[in-house]
Amino acid sequence: MRHLLDTHTLVREDALRILDVAEDMRDTQSREVKKLPTLRGKTVVNLFFEDSTRTRISFEAAAKRLSADVINFSAKGSSVSKGESLQDTAQTLQAMGADAVVIRHGASGAPHTLATSGWISAGVLNAGDGTHEHPTQALLDAFTIRKRFYGDHSRGRDLAGLKVTIVGDVLHSRVARSNVWLLTTLGAEVTLVAPPTLVPQDVTGWPVTIRYDLDEAIAAEPDALMMLRIQLERMNAAYFPTEREYSRRWGLDAARLQALPTTSIVMHPGPMNRGLEISADAADSPRSTVLEQVANGVSVRMAALYLLLAGERDTTNAEEDAR
Ligand code: NCD
Repeated sequence: MRHLLDTHTLVREDALRILDVAEDMRDTQSREVKKLPTLRGKTVVNLFFEDSTRTRISFEAAAKRLSADVINFSAKGSSVSKGESLQDTAQTLQAMGADAVVIRHGASGAPHTLATSGWISAGVLNAGDGTHEHPTQALLDAFTIRKRFYGDHSRGRDLAGLKVTIVGDVLHSRVARSNVWLLTTLGAEVTLVAPPTLVPQDVTGWPVTIRYDLDEAIAAEPDALMMLRIQLERMNAAYFPTEREYSRRWGLDAARLQALPTTSIVMHPGPMNRGLEISADAADSPRSTVLEQVANGVSVRMAALYLLLAGERDTTNAEEDAR
């Protein structure tokens, strides 16, 4: 793998490889000394043109735990706010010797442009581009589902036979898009639930079932219910009457949590709007994987950085390096 730009073109074999290497990485994270020497001498640049808390620090922790040097570059307060282009920024990073660039950008396609432009030779990891994709989020979600359902027997397994229902602001969600592609590649059955106004127009070509009623979707007994954040910052129009009405019809509250099978898990990529798409009872219940998703994110990003930067070595070497 040269880059990690999307899950749409990520083949099953590569997806499982990332998840399995992430298992090895996770095993190292319960040790007292969490740091591995694997990427010593490599430089990872975090290039963030959009706000982020967990994704940026997760990539930073992942790179540092592999002993890479990390440079954090956030567009606010940089020359980008003075009008410097993506090309100039990229060429500056190239001149500084970046081996990998983790990029978050408001424009869908910016990571792809960076990877194919010839401006840099570094590997590019998409950390979220516009409403397009957020591949490491989907990988950490798949990892979390696999771990909850298969525990220590997760390695090598896909998600065949599992039903995942994704609820809410699908229209603006790169997390939903990356999950639709990855989860179906791994064999899961995906259902989307949203108000008609928040269902994207091109959804007819997606390998999913669409529903508009959350209670019916819950009655269909999903194994995982993934709640999405209402992305108020990307809404320039009214997509639903009021927040109260939204949470009454599409929010996960205590009663709906009760109606879910006891074995089902509740997911959310964060940041949560508590009381809007998810109630505090649901967010803090033992069935919620919100904090596991955050912890697993570091292992998955360690795996992605390792596979991009440590060259064409196989999983066996990852295990050896981790020892
Ligand atoms: C997501 C994002 O930025 O796309 N958050 C994240 O990476 N943890 C989802 C969101 O902002 O709703």
